[in-house]
Amino acid sequence: MSPMPGDEADVRAATPEEAADPRRMHAANRVAWDQAAEDYERRLAGSIHRLRAGRSSLLPVELDLIGDLRGRCDHAIHVQCAGGEDTLSLWLAGAARVTGIDFSPRMLDLARRLAAAVEAPAGWVEADVLDLPHELDGTADLVYTGRGSIMWVQDIDAWAAGLARLPRPGGRLVVFEGHPAEWLFDGDGGGGWILTDYDYFAGPEASRGWSPAYIERLSLSDDAQAWKFARAWTLGEVVTALLGTGLRVETVTEHPVDWYGGHRDVHPAERGRLPLSFSVTATRP
Ligand SMILES: C[S@@+](CC[C@H](N)C(=O)[O-])C[C@H]1O[C@@H](n2cnc3c(N)ncnc32)[C@H](O)[C@@H]1O
Repeated sequence: MSPMPGDEADVRAATPEEAADPRRMHAANRVAWDQAAEDYERRLAGSIHRLRAGRSSLLPVELDLIGDLRGRCDHAIHVQCAGGEDTLSLWLAGAARVTGIDFSPRMLDLARRLAAAVEAPAGWVEADVLDLPHELDGTADLVYTGRGSIMWVQDIDAWAAGLARLPRPGGRLVVFEGHPAEWLFDGDGGGGWILTDYDYFAGPEASRGWSPAYIERLSLSDDAQAWKFARAWTLGEVVTALLGTGLRVETVTEHPVDWYGGHRDVHPAERGRLPLSFSVTATRP
């Protein structure tokens, strides 16, 4: 199921007025993510410890997609970078310089503190994915995004167009993301899978509260938190949006990888049977 609502969370379909206004939904999400940064702050010491020890927060499947960046990547950009641990893991993978972009000022403050603690060559930009700054156009050898990012975006064509501006000619885009089909099933508590009642084609859903597997309980109660809007963009919608940008899409792959650890209770015999994540790699001609 969707990684965002908690068990007791309020969940409802977005109203037609909300669903018609991506920027209004993003403004709400920005408040909700700034609130959720409290959980990332709790994890800051661990992030510093891991990076100092040279341990990447990127999954093995992501490291395979990204490859060894040593000597091959002057500049990597991470879009929707949150607290920056994944961004700085691109530096660990060999990028000479990294830039993280996010719309949450509190997340970027954490990212700055993290980069300072490990003395990494990093820059941080506060921007919505719909308004990526043009100064970054054509500057990246690698653009990376994913692991809980696309579902917050409410205009998939504008998202794809923004990402496509960032790579230099010959530069790469790597997306690794939760699979939209993941919203359709959940653990049954006994190690198997059950279908949820999520409508795959319904569009944005509003919620308050988070799954504890994703964001630990915040000091604000669920009903005092901002409403936030997420949706499962279908694989077809994501790939079609990227194809429309002029990027050369090279691979589209579905993976059984549990990208946020939300399905740990599923029996090993049931693992690997369903797509839990997907990746897209593309190059700017
Ligand atoms: C789950 S994190 C993804 C990064 C990484 N996998 C992680 O968990 O640290 C999602 C991030 O997307 C950011 N975000 C959501 N919608 C955004 C938007 N429209 N523009 C920029 N950032 C956005 C949030 O602030 C949050 O930091």
